[in-house]
Amino acid sequence: MAATMPRHTISGPSGNGLFTNGTPTRSWTVSTAKPVTYEVRFENGLLDPANPALAEAGNAAGTTGSRRLLVVEEQVQRLYGDRIAAYFAARGLDTETCVLPAHEQLKTMESAFRVVESMDGFGIARRHEPVVAIGGGVLMDIVGLAASLYRRSTPYVRVPTTLIGLVDAGVGAKTGVNYGRHKNRLGTYHPSSVALLDPMFLATLDQRHISNGLAEILKIALVKDRTLFELLAAHSKALLSSRLQPDDDPSDRRVAEDVLCRAVHGMLEELQPNLWEHQLQRLVDYGHSFSPVIEMEALPELLHGEAVCVDMAFTTVLARRRGLVDDDEAQRVLAVMDDLGLPVWHPACTPAAMERALADTVRHRDGQQRLPLPVGIGQACFVNDLTAPEVRGALEELRERDLALRSAL
Ligand SMILES: NC(=O)c1ccc[n+]([C@@H]2O[C@H](COP(=O)([O-])OP(=O)(O)OC[C@H]3O[C@@H](n4cnc5c(N)ncnc54)[C@H](O)[C@@H]3O)[C@@H](O)[C@H]2O)c1
Repeated sequence: MAATMPRHTISGPSGNGLFTNGTPTRSWTVSTAKPVTYEVRFENGLLDPANPALAEAGNAAGTTGSRRLLVVEEQVQRLYGDRIAAYFAARGLDTETCVLPAHEQLKTMESAFRVVESMDGFGIARRHEPVVAIGGGVLMDIVGLAASLYRRSTPYVRVPTTLIGLVDAGVGAKTGVNYGRHKNRLGTYHPSSVALLDPMFLATLDQRHISNGLAEILKIALVKDRTLFELLAAHSKALLSSRLQPDDDPSDRRVAEDVLCRAVHGMLEELQPNLWEHQLQRLVDYGHSFSPVIEMEALPELLHGEAVCVDMAFTTVLARRRGLVDDDEAQRVLAVMDDLGLPVWHPACTPAAMERALADTVRHRDGQQRLPLPVGIGQACFVNDLTAPEVRGALEELRERDLALRSAL
């Protein structure tokens, strides 16, 4: 929209009138802007009946609704279903629960349609009965897509139960499902009205999924928050073994809280000015240039964060070979990835796959690579001139490191 235009306009070729020189206006330009506000909040004790946060979340001001449609991921339902039901009963809300199995291979339109069916069956009252999505990133992306399609937009609340959910999938605007072999190929921008983040859910998450989420935290650390990197480097083992839920030691608790808050803050700082991704040069794309192809090629072997980490290891080596990161820094970064239980290499990373991934990324980024590369630790730049020989050289170096590590075991 031109800077001088009012925010909402309808105008013909020569102004806003119905007639121009006695003839009716026959073409119009419609221009408007939609303000978007949503809340992301850490909220401990979300399932404590004394805590009204979840019951009140997403209700349009001044309205009350006494029903909720809950969409709960299957494993979460098994672990927390009784507590969830008890919570809503204690808060006086009638609920229906759609239990959805959700993993990467079920991240499909069929799953989104299952949610739509539940919404239809429930007879959602859009203004005061937000859908409540409780689960990991896959479930939230599916429910978000269904909610954005249903009656062209229905409010929903996100309650992420995985680490990726807490620091990434739960806090942005994007929704989506996979299509064919393409990750998140169908999707929308439809943030939840409220995202309530309760790290308590991490207590039951297996360690591999904690590592998986730490990869997205490491991403923020590597491109914009050196302090966060130092926290991860110094406390990797404790963060992993406590699942960011240390019981006793107040200083461990403080570290876990710092890590989570810095990760969410850093993520939102990057997302907010560019929520609809009109700007294609995005720091948060770090780790996401090659990983979509790596993840889909390696499916179901690599989790999302693991594929992101392989991409980050690869681009760290690329950056070192360009002199953007020095030897010690590169070794440190790779060592922290090892300590966080993350892979730095996968056989799916063939030169052909990586070149295909880059071509796909270039298409997605409007004809340019716009490839984020680390500069030291905690900063990044964008490049447009990565070459195929560079890709092959960095791949070979990483593969040799992986072989050497394996033979030392
Ligand atoms: N929309 C976005 O902006 C965005 C951002 C990042 C990632 N994502 C998407 O998120 C997805 C990855 O999310 P994810 O890592 O949460 O995977 P996921 O949703 O598949 O969940 C991982 C596993 O954890 C289990 N689980 C969930 N909560 C649990 C709990 N509290 N205790 C025990 N087990 C639990 C689930 O059953 C599942 O098997 C990817 O599809 C990715 O594309 C989206």
